[in-house]
Amino acid sequence: MFLLKNIREVLTLEGSDKKDGRNLLPSDLSILKDCSIVFDDQIRFVGKYSDIPDSMLKSITNEKDLKNYVLTPELVDSHTHLIFGGNRAKEYSMRLNGADYQEIAKAGGGILESSRGTNALSDEELFELCCERVHRLNSYGVGTIEIKSGYGLGFNEEYRLSNIINKLRNKFSPKIQIKNTYMAAHAVPKESTSKKYIDEVCIPLLDKLSSEKIIDAVDIFHEEGYFDSEDVTKLLEHATSLNLPVKTHADEFKDNKGALLASNLKSLSTDHLLNTSIESIKALSSSSTVATLLPGTGYFLGKEQANARDFLDAGVKVAIASDYNPGSCHCDNVLLLASIAAPNYRMNMAELWTAITLNASHALGLKDQGSISIGKKPRFSLFKLNSIDEITYNWGRNFSVNLDSI
Ligand code: NIG
Ligand code: FE
Repeated sequence: MFLLKNIREVLTLEGSDKKDGRNLLPSDLSILKDCSIVFDDQIRFVGKYSDIPDSMLKSITNEKDLKNYVLTPELVDSHTHLIFGGNRAKEYSMRLNGADYQEIAKAGGGILESSRGTNALSDEELFELCCERVHRLNSYGVGTIEIKSGYGLGFNEEYRLSNIINKLRNKFSPKIQIKNTYMAAHAVPKESTSKKYIDEVCIPLLDKLSSEKIIDAVDIFHEEGYFDSEDVTKLLEHATSLNLPVKTHADEFKDNKGALLASNLKSLSTDHLLNTSIESIKALSSSSTVATLLPGTGYFLGKEQANARDFLDAGVKVAIASDYNPGSCHCDNVLLLASIAAPNYRMNMAELWTAITLNASHALGLKDQGSISIGKKPRFSLFKLNSIDEITYNWGRNFSVNLDSI
């Protein structure tokens, strides 16, 4: 049994957990001061040291004094595309000079450019690159990371990417938890059509990966010029028939009723949502589908941000993730992004923290983490600061500390 004692502040999010991450007030942060936590494979006690039962104290084998630290539920980045080769720095400059993201993509750049960069690397090179990236995200305090495939865009190429993500998952588990999302339906290869690519590559490969138990979920880019609602329904219903959870990229460039379709398909999450209609938001509010907002992508593409308040006020479960990828958001720090976005999103502190912990966990189907309460998994992030307030106040400075180093 482990004991963390005298922690200056603990953000338990117990209130938020009880409300299923919706309709949150600042008091739902449920902060405890000078707090102790006892855990083994799950959290057994949260409260004052003097209240720990004697029988529990006797079984403590390892303890740490954290009087100079703040502890939060583990930060989760529930949407990344961190397996890619090459970079698109040139495209970013072109866009700053006036070029348009979708125009660049149509001319063979964009995702297709990153696909060439990815497929040019050997398995070992790609694995090493991803290890560096996983370590970097973890250095910010992020302990659960979702990684999507999608820059291979062919049967063998996508099979390779899903396998490399699986290898990353095995290497980093359990300290860093990696979720492997299959997103071969990320763009349509040049010589193909969306229908042909779904039938001849995405579905047969999904069958193979599912039988090999390599992937955790299936995602698709639902957008004009990529995949339409018929493609989305076909692929995701197939995934559901294989008992795999589903997710979508929806309503990014325009409202295509993507979020509505995602909630009808019982998606774990639907992400981007820059142009989602009130009708779709209503559907999300009565479903368990998490709305994942990706502020970094809005900034990086110079687009108007999602109207977060519409989602929050309707009682939708809202998460924030980085969308870290080479083209539409080359920023990998979800805490920085959430801290920058919160004032414009007009999120209160409970909404902000829930978005990058509890609701982000739910966006990955992980219901046993995301708050510091009895029975939950002991997955924490630790910061060497005096208060929760100072974490989000210090935009972009890194105060995360590895618990094992203390
Ligand atoms: O989530 N929207 C689709 N996919 C990525 C962008 C990928 C890229 O531009 O390389 C995203 O933003
Ligand atoms: Fe994405």
